[in-house]
Amino acid sequence: MSERNFEPGEIMLDEGTILKRVEELADEITADYNRDYPGETLLLICILKGSFVFTADLSRKLGIDTRIDFMSVSSYGSGTVTSGKVKIIKDLETDIAGKNVLIVEDIIDSGVTLSALRKILLDRNPKSLKICTLLDKPSGRKVDITGDYLGFIIEDRFIVGYGLDVDEKFRDLPDIVCIKEG
Ligand code: IMP
Ligand code: MG
Repeated sequence: MSERNFEPGEIMLDEGTILKRVEELADEITADYNRDYPGETLLLICILKGSFVFTADLSRKLGIDTRIDFMSVSSYGSGTVTSGKVKIIKDLETDIAGKNVLIVEDIIDSGVTLSALRKILLDRNPKSLKICTLLDKPSGRKVDITGDYLGFIIEDRFIVGYGLDVDEKFRDLPDIVCIKEG
Protein backbone atom coordinates (compact mmCIF):
# COMPACT_ATOMS: atom_id res chain seq x y z
CA MET A 1 0.00 0.00 0.00
CA SER A 2 1.50 3.34 -0.97
CA GLU A 3 1.75 6.06 1.66
CA ARG A 4 -0.79 8.85 1.29
CA ASN A 5 0.88 12.09 0.44
CA PHE A 6 -0.85 15.20 1.76
CA GLU A 7 0.07 18.73 0.75
CA PRO A 8 -1.12 22.11 2.00
CA GLY A 9 -3.69 23.56 -0.44
CA GLU A 10 -5.72 26.76 -0.45
CA ILE A 11 -5.72 29.09 2.54
CA MET A 12 -8.94 28.98 4.57
CA LEU A 13 -7.90 31.53 7.23
CA ASP A 14 -4.76 33.61 6.88
CA GLU A 15 -2.47 34.54 9.75
CA GLY A 16 -3.74 38.13 10.03
CA THR A 17 -7.37 37.03 10.13
CA ILE A 18 -6.61 34.43 12.81
CA LEU A 19 -4.63 36.82 15.01
CA LYS A 20 -7.32 39.52 14.79
CA ARG A 21 -9.98 37.02 15.89
CA VAL A 22 -7.74 35.70 18.70
CA GLU A 23 -7.46 39.26 20.03
CA GLU A 24 -11.24 39.66 19.90
CA LEU A 25 -11.70 36.40 21.79
CA ALA A 26 -9.14 37.47 24.39
CA ASP A 27 -11.00 40.77 24.88
CA GLU A 28 -14.31 38.92 25.31
CA ILE A 29 -12.82 36.44 27.81
CA THR A 30 -11.05 39.23 29.73
CA ALA A 31 -14.28 41.24 30.03
CA ASP A 32 -16.32 38.21 31.15
CA TYR A 33 -13.90 36.97 33.80
CA ASN A 34 -13.12 40.42 35.17
CA ARG A 35 -16.87 40.94 35.55
CA ASP A 36 -17.79 37.47 36.93
CA TYR A 37 -14.64 36.62 38.91
CA PRO A 38 -12.87 39.93 39.62
CA GLY A 39 -9.34 39.55 40.94
CA GLU A 40 -9.37 35.75 40.57
CA THR A 41 -6.86 33.63 38.69
CA LEU A 42 -7.81 31.77 35.51
CA LEU A 43 -6.28 28.39 34.68
CA LEU A 44 -5.92 27.77 30.95
CA ILE A 45 -5.83 24.12 29.96
CA CYS A 46 -4.07 23.69 26.63
CA ILE A 47 -5.18 20.48 24.93
CA LEU A 48 -2.11 19.04 23.27
CA LYS A 49 -0.95 19.00 20.72
CA GLY A 50 -3.25 20.93 18.39
CA SER A 51 -3.93 23.96 20.57
CA PHE A 52 -0.37 24.87 21.56
CA VAL A 53 -0.13 27.76 19.08
CA PHE A 54 -3.62 29.07 19.84
CA THR A 55 -3.00 28.89 23.60
CA ALA A 56 0.29 30.75 23.24
CA ASP A 57 -1.31 33.58 21.25
CA LEU A 58 -4.51 33.77 23.31
CA SER A 59 -2.74 33.75 26.67
CA ARG A 60 -0.56 36.69 25.69
CA LYS A 61 -3.61 38.83 24.88
CA LEU A 62 -5.60 38.16 28.06
CA GLY A 63 -5.83 40.88 30.69
CA ILE A 64 -6.30 38.35 33.49
CA ASP A 65 -3.92 36.72 35.96
CA THR A 66 -3.52 33.29 34.36
CA ARG A 67 -1.82 29.95 34.91
CA ILE A 68 -1.31 27.40 32.15
CA ASP A 69 -1.36 23.62 32.29
CA PHE A 70 -1.34 20.97 29.58
CA MET A 71 -3.33 17.84 28.95
CA SER A 72 -3.25 15.28 26.18
CA VAL A 73 -6.12 12.91 25.47
CA SER A 74 -7.07 10.52 22.71
CA SER A 75 -10.39 8.99 21.77
CA TYR A 76 -10.72 5.24 22.06
CA GLY A 77 -11.38 3.26 18.87
CA SER A 78 -14.42 4.04 16.76
CA GLY A 79 -16.35 1.15 18.35
CA THR A 80 -16.59 3.02 21.61
CA VAL A 81 -17.38 6.42 20.15
CA THR A 82 -20.90 6.52 21.59
CA SER A 83 -19.60 5.79 25.09
CA GLY A 84 -17.58 8.96 24.75
CA LYS A 85 -14.53 7.64 26.54
CA VAL A 86 -11.12 9.18 26.16
CA LYS A 87 -7.75 7.97 27.26
CA ILE A 88 -5.60 10.43 29.21
CA ILE A 89 -2.14 10.43 27.62
CA LYS A 90 -0.83 13.26 29.77
CA ASP A 91 -2.70 14.56 32.80
CA LEU A 92 -2.63 17.99 34.42
CA GLU A 93 -0.07 18.83 37.08
CA THR A 94 -2.57 21.18 38.71
CA ASP A 95 -5.35 20.31 41.15
CA ILE A 96 -8.28 22.19 39.58
CA ALA A 97 -10.66 21.94 42.58
CA GLY A 98 -12.10 25.38 43.35
CA LYS A 99 -10.37 27.02 40.37
CA ASN A 100 -11.69 28.88 37.34
CA VAL A 101 -10.77 26.69 34.39
CA LEU A 102 -10.87 27.43 30.68
CA ILE A 103 -10.26 24.56 28.25
CA VAL A 104 -8.42 25.85 25.18
CA GLU A 105 -9.07 23.58 22.18
CA ASP A 106 -8.08 23.83 18.52
CA ILE A 107 -11.20 22.43 16.90
CA ILE A 108 -14.48 20.74 17.78
CA ASP A 109 -15.50 18.20 15.16
CA SER A 110 -17.57 15.24 16.45
CA GLY A 111 -17.35 16.73 19.95
CA VAL A 112 -16.64 13.29 21.43
CA THR A 113 -13.22 14.16 22.82
CA LEU A 114 -14.25 17.43 24.40
CA SER A 115 -17.49 16.10 25.83
CA ALA A 116 -15.66 13.24 27.60
CA LEU A 117 -12.91 15.58 28.76
CA ARG A 118 -15.45 18.01 30.14
CA LYS A 119 -16.97 15.25 32.29
CA ILE A 120 -13.55 14.19 33.59
CA LEU A 121 -12.71 17.77 34.58
CA LEU A 122 -16.13 18.50 36.12
CA ASP A 123 -15.63 15.47 38.40
CA ARG A 124 -12.60 17.28 39.83
CA ASN A 125 -14.86 20.09 41.09
CA PRO A 126 -13.53 23.27 39.51
CA LYS A 127 -15.20 26.51 40.59
CA SER A 128 -16.08 27.19 36.95
CA LEU A 129 -15.38 25.38 33.67
CA LYS A 130 -15.70 26.88 30.22
CA ILE A 131 -14.51 25.96 26.74
CA CYS A 132 -12.74 28.13 24.20
CA THR A 133 -12.24 26.67 20.75
CA LEU A 134 -10.61 28.36 17.80
CA LEU A 135 -12.54 26.37 15.21
CA ASP A 136 -15.89 24.62 15.08
CA LYS A 137 -17.07 22.18 12.41
CA PRO A 138 -20.76 21.81 13.37
CA SER A 139 -21.48 19.44 10.47
CA GLY A 140 -19.26 16.77 12.08
CA ARG A 141 -21.05 16.81 15.43
CA LYS A 142 -22.03 13.49 17.05
CA VAL A 143 -22.60 14.68 20.62
CA ASP A 144 -24.23 17.86 21.78
CA ILE A 145 -21.45 20.17 22.89
CA THR A 146 -20.48 23.71 22.03
CA GLY A 147 -17.79 26.17 23.00
CA ASP A 148 -18.45 29.13 25.28
CA TYR A 149 -15.95 31.09 23.16
CA LEU A 150 -15.68 30.31 19.48
CA GLY A 151 -13.25 31.70 16.91
CA PHE A 152 -14.56 30.57 13.55
CA ILE A 153 -17.31 28.26 12.33
CA ILE A 154 -15.91 26.39 9.34
CA GLU A 155 -17.19 23.99 6.70
CA ASP A 156 -16.38 20.30 6.85
CA ARG A 157 -12.93 20.24 5.24
CA PHE A 158 -9.73 18.85 6.69
CA ILE A 159 -7.42 21.70 7.60
CA VAL A 160 -3.87 22.02 8.94
CA GLY A 161 -1.59 24.75 10.24
CA TYR A 162 -1.61 27.04 13.30
CA GLY A 163 -1.03 23.94 15.45
CA LEU A 164 -3.23 21.50 13.54
CA ASP A 165 -1.66 18.55 11.78
CA VAL A 166 -2.07 15.67 9.40
CA ASP A 167 0.22 12.78 10.38
CA GLU A 168 2.08 15.25 12.66
CA LYS A 169 2.93 17.52 9.71
CA PHE A 170 2.21 21.21 9.06
CA ARG A 171 1.61 22.29 12.68
CA ASP A 172 4.13 25.09 12.06
CA LEU A 173 2.26 26.82 9.21
CA PRO A 174 1.12 30.32 10.21
CA ASP A 175 -2.10 30.12 8.16
CA ILE A 176 -4.90 27.57 8.39
CA VAL A 177 -4.99 25.76 5.05
CA CYS A 178 -7.06 23.01 3.43
CA ILE A 179 -5.28 19.77 2.73
CA LYS A 180 -5.09 18.18 -0.69
CA GLU A 181 -3.81 14.74 -1.58
CA GLY A 182 -0.80 15.03 -3.84
P1 IMP B 1 -13.62 15.39 17.97
O1 IMP B 1 -14.36 16.67 18.19
O2 IMP B 1 -13.69 14.44 19.13
O3 IMP B 1 -14.06 14.72 16.70
O4 IMP B 1 -12.06 15.62 17.81
C1 IMP B 1 -11.50 16.84 17.61
C2 IMP B 1 -10.05 16.61 17.37
O5 IMP B 1 -9.87 16.01 16.08
C3 IMP B 1 -9.30 17.92 17.33
O6 IMP B 1 -8.78 18.25 18.60
C4 IMP B 1 -8.22 17.65 16.30
O7 IMP B 1 -7.09 17.08 16.93
C5 IMP B 1 -8.83 16.62 15.38
N1 IMP B 1 -9.36 17.25 14.15
C6 IMP B 1 -10.66 17.35 13.78
N2 IMP B 1 -10.79 17.96 12.59
C7 IMP B 1 -9.52 18.26 12.19
C8 IMP B 1 -8.98 18.93 11.02
O8 IMP B 1 -9.68 19.37 10.09
N3 IMP B 1 -7.62 19.05 10.99
C9 IMP B 1 -6.80 18.58 11.98
N4 IMP B 1 -7.27 17.97 13.08
C10 IMP B 1 -8.63 17.81 13.19
MG1 MG C 1 -6.52 17.96 19.06
